[in-house]
Amino acid sequence: MAKRVLVLNGPNLNMLGMREPEIYGRDTLADIRSACAAFCEAQGWSLDFRQSNAEGELVSWIQEARGRVDAVVINAAAYTHTSVAIHDALHLLDCPIVEVHLSNIHRREPFRHHSYISSVATGVIVGFGAKGYLLALAALEAG
Ligand code: DQA
Repeated sequence: MAKRVLVLNGPNLNMLGMREPEIYGRDTLADIRSACAAFCEAQGWSLDFRQSNAEGELVSWIQEARGRVDAVVINAAAYTHTSVAIHDALHLLDCPIVEVHLSNIHRREPFRHHSYISSVATGVIVGFGAKGYLLALAALEAG
């Protein structure tokens, strides 16, 4: 089935490539977008890939996705650990949601261990770097 996939990226992910590469790797967000686009094209899926540093903009995009997309992949970045608003917006969706983190947040500082996203996600992929996005798409393909 042709899927409409929305990939959302939160704050500071526009800095990937130059941002703490020992933690987040050397791939830029543009590299990740290209890899996701190639995967989706091969499946015959459409891809909407976005990034914002603003919590409210992410909330609005999630609201707009309601009934319009078949799956959401989200790396909410730092908002993962703080945003009840993103949690609540995701809760209103009725499609699969895959939470992705480049780093293994459970091996890092305690403030990164709690996610407001996980309890409203279908599944969670952490610690596999940029490949995590493709693993998320592969999970959607399998499901
Ligand atoms: C991140 C992990 C978060 O704790 C951090 O704030 C990020 C990126 C990750 O992909 O590993 O910005 O979501």
